[in-house]
Amino acid sequence: MSVYILGIESSCDDTSAAVFRDETILSNKIANQEVHKEYGGVVPELASRAHQQNIIPVVDKALKEAGVKVADINAVAFTRGPGLMGSLLVGTSFAKGFALANNIPLLDVNHLHAHVLAHFIKEPDQESNHPDFPFLCLLVSGGNSQIVLVKDYMHMEVVGQTIDDAAGEAFDKCAKVMGLPYPGGPWIDKLAKEGNPEAFSFAKPNIKAYDYSFSGLKTSFLYFLRDQVKVNPDFIEENKNDLCASLQSTIVDILLNKLVKAASDLKISQIALAGGVSANSGLRNGLEMLAKKKKWETFIPKFAYTTDNAAMVAITGYYKFLAKEFVTHDTTPFSRVVF
Ligand code: KG4
Repeated sequence: MSVYILGIESSCDDTSAAVFRDETILSNKIANQEVHKEYGGVVPELASRAHQQNIIPVVDKALKEAGVKVADINAVAFTRGPGLMGSLLVGTSFAKGFALANNIPLLDVNHLHAHVLAHFIKEPDQESNHPDFPFLCLLVSGGNSQIVLVKDYMHMEVVGQTIDDAAGEAFDKCAKVMGLPYPGGPWIDKLAKEGNPEAFSFAKPNIKAYDYSFSGLKTSFLYFLRDQVKVNPDFIEENKNDLCASLQSTIVDILLNKLVKAASDLKISQIALAGGVSANSGLRNGLEMLAKKKKWETFIPKFAYTTDNAAMVAITGYYKFLAKEFVTHDTTPFSRVVF
């Protein structure tokens, strides 16, 4: 018999609900929060308020689009963390209320596991193309940069991670210094296409094993611009494309060098990308080039499943449902990374 799961995501600034029948997606609705744009970053208090406004309409739309009635849902899965506490509380409380009102089980989902398991989302009437276990997943988003060894649906090990900023944060903060809108990652990607990646060189970290660090790069970028602007106030405007291309190529090199090392040491050739930064064209091209050279099989999820979305929460909830890993109503969200 089929299992219907309602997934809820509210860890940061996107309110999302998705309905799944087993591994197949039936709907995935997202309400983005425009309110943060003018502040150049997510304002936690505003995010929680917007989640409160959006959650019921988003769930309603997801159920309607899926053509599924509330009574058909077998379990509700929600993002428990990591994320902003006020935002997580909205999704968690909604999921508890929904589970209680409909007398169905509750499934807690780790947002980072969900990003990884987005690879297993199956589109209706399509063959699914997913990595085989074990695989390595480079999980790069606004809040995280990790290399994850994925042993199966339930067992993952972080083999490397950032010791300070995430890759997305490096993109966004450097973009802000150049006066680009938030989030800056997609802008840098766009402008980089017209620039020379070798025009400027920036500091690359020397960090142990498979770990990352992006704060030195951010500082070196900031100081470089500060010095150049003193000499020529129009420096940024005149060199924007080259700055974006050089910065992007530095971030991509840092990310991929550690991935190559981990894949070679662990002897893994199934390689996946996940998280918002996996939309980056430099990263995608770099990975494809490496795949040819190293004979890797690579997997990049559909764009809609790389940024924050409830589809990845629902598919993770589905596997937890099969494993009967339910949680009780006294479960609380966690804001920090717990893998
Ligand atoms: O996974 P995600 O949607 O959520 C958070 O972790 O918050 O990732 C968002 C991050 C932002 O830092 C954004 O700038 C970055 O992903 N991003 C990109 C691109 N598209 C989104 N970074 C570089 N190039 C892109 N094309």
